[in-house]
Amino acid sequence: STTPRLFSGMQPSADSLQVGNYIGALLQWRQMQQTHDAVFCVVDLHAITIPQDPALLRQQTRRTAAQYIAGGIDPEHSVLFVQSQVPAHAELAWVLNTITGFGEASRMTQFKDKSAKQGSDATSVGLFTYPVLMAADILLYDTALVPVGEDQRQHIELTRDLASRFNSRFGDTFVIPKPQIQKATAKIYDLQNPEAKMSKSAASDAGVLWLLDEPSKTAKKIKSAVTDADREIHFDRAAKPGISNLLTIHSVFSGTSIGDLEAQFEGKGYGDLKKEVADVVTEEFAPVRARTLELLDDPTELDRMLTKNAERASGMAEATLARVYDRIGF
Ligand code: ADP
Ligand code: NA
Repeated sequence: STTPRLFSGMQPSADSLQVGNYIGALLQWRQMQQTHDAVFCVVDLHAITIPQDPALLRQQTRRTAAQYIAGGIDPEHSVLFVQSQVPAHAELAWVLNTITGFGEASRMTQFKDKSAKQGSDATSVGLFTYPVLMAADILLYDTALVPVGEDQRQHIELTRDLASRFNSRFGDTFVIPKPQIQKATAKIYDLQNPEAKMSKSAASDAGVLWLLDEPSKTAKKIKSAVTDADREIHFDRAAKPGISNLLTIHSVFSGTSIGDLEAQFEGKGYGDLKKEVADVVTEEFAPVRARTLELLDDPTELDRMLTKNAERASGMAEATLARVYDRIGF
């Protein structure tokens, strides 16, 4: 087909997505699946690069998949599958490991950050080769476009380098993918610490808006969001990070531009802004939450759908892997 292939994934690292995942990833995916041949993956192989609880991982994998679907990913149209159900990911990652330089992998800043926090004895070799597995994920599907956050730019560069290296050493095999880096405005910050990005793995839950939280809990968190000492409601990321973050969230869900919101809130207080942000967020999340819970109520059907999609993904991935194995002499 001539429709460009898109690949993206998310780790099943919590029971619920947070509003940053929803705005920064899911909303783009939902839109892009209309114009692209989209493949979405719950990357559980990546999730075990840090220690996991097996029962919890299984639960979070199902819940993540359910939230993709509830958030608008159509598993009959797009491919939506769980990484560990397609063995070609681990197989291609091994091959790519053999053409990745040790120094090259050592320069990955995400690995340096994560391993510095953990210490070298607690850091697994799996965490070190995480970006190579990510390259395999992308290259298996002849991906043209990878929508990711700015933090993933270096990993996509590595993917491109490995693909070109393989192609020049063994003959044309891989499509060279391009990153689609999201605009800075799609980045959501922690409500309690608006200089840090909101994250599933934040140390404290107080500044994180979970897709599956009760609406009253969401409203309470927004009410307690950190703001600043003056009373002006305008967008200024440096001087007013808390207010800017709330304006961003409002704007994404209400569809009103930041400029129009500034005009609407002229002469009003922070409490008014927070009240409206809570309304637009809970309104947006309510149907997604309800649909997620409905999907989780029927795990047999959810698993059936995931198995079917893993078969679709395997068909694509196996073809690429067969090409690779042939080229390298297997
Ligand atoms: P988390 O930090 O919540 O664990 P992941 O690293 O699993 O997030 O990222 C999943 C997707 O969500 C990626 O595409 C990432 O760019 C996006 N994302 C995560 N946090 C944010 C955020 N605060 N704002 C915008 N996008 C985000
Ligand atoms: Na994370």
